[in-house]
Amino acid sequence: VLPIMTTFDAYSKYYDLFYREKDYVGEVDYVEARFTALSRAPVKSILDVGCGSGRHALLFGQRGYLVQGIDRSKTMLALAQQRKGELAVENVTFHCQDATDIARGRRFDVVTALFHVINYQAGDRALDAMLACVGRHLEPGGLFIFDFWYGPAVLHQRPETRVKRLEDETANIIRIAEPRMDVKRNTVDVNYEVIVTDKGSGHVQVLNERHCMRYLFYPEIEQLLAENGFAVDAASQWMAPDRPLGEDTWSGEVVARRL
Ligand SMILES: C[S@@+](CC[C@H](N)C(=O)[O-])C[C@H]1O[C@@H](n2cnc3c(N)ncnc32)[C@H](O)[C@@H]1O
Repeated sequence: VLPIMTTFDAYSKYYDLFYREKDYVGEVDYVEARFTALSRAPVKSILDVGCGSGRHALLFGQRGYLVQGIDRSKTMLALAQQRKGELAVENVTFHCQDATDIARGRRFDVVTALFHVINYQAGDRALDAMLACVGRHLEPGGLFIFDFWYGPAVLHQRPETRVKRLEDETANIIRIAEPRMDVKRNTVDVNYEVIVTDKGSGHVQVLNERHCMRYLFYPEIEQLLAENGFAVDAASQWMAPDRPLGEDTWSGEVVARRL
């Protein structure tokens, strides 16, 4: 059994397998439609914060946008670089940076942070620093689009232990996600145990990772955005702009405009 790793370290090896059913094309279609509808100026450049294995970023790149992706996980970025090579997309670059300390030396028309990246910023300081960084990297009037774990729904539905079984050509994989809530800090510690059985040798490897997620409430999002020079343009269920945030909406979405 290996010791607990930095978030997305060992885990990243299986990330794309865990999420192979995730509809990245549908999400990129949606986000593109959203910023096209809400942006005041034509969108040419996108910064994808917490880009992970680069799937959104590369899809945006294939549509002609100039894209930079940042992530703090070198192993996730290695997947992104590899995929970039396979797809031969030139107008996308990936950089190892922390969302709370981004320094790209330019501004973008749109910033995205997709698949709960903001919830990984569990402390007030980290949240504030991420929003300040995003603000510094957006053109005035530019849009910041992100999805997030919505507090009232997390409290209403309560996270449960989940087991996912997967396989690829070489291995059978079981992922157990055990959540532990801290209702004082508004966090859920998700302990992931990944059990990998090699199909050839029968060798078993166990990986452990803990992801600390902070669920967010609308007033604190609105306030933190305001303090960092944003106004909320829209808040709704993720990928359902006509549906308001509610107890049954675990994933919320905000589009904020840099003033
Ligand atoms: C659930 S993954 C989402 C990855 C990608 N956006 C996607 O949709 O597949 C969350 C990602 O956020 C990154 N992340 C979380 N906090 C971060 C931070 N402070 N700075 C940089 N990356 C961060 C993690 O390394 C991880 O790759």
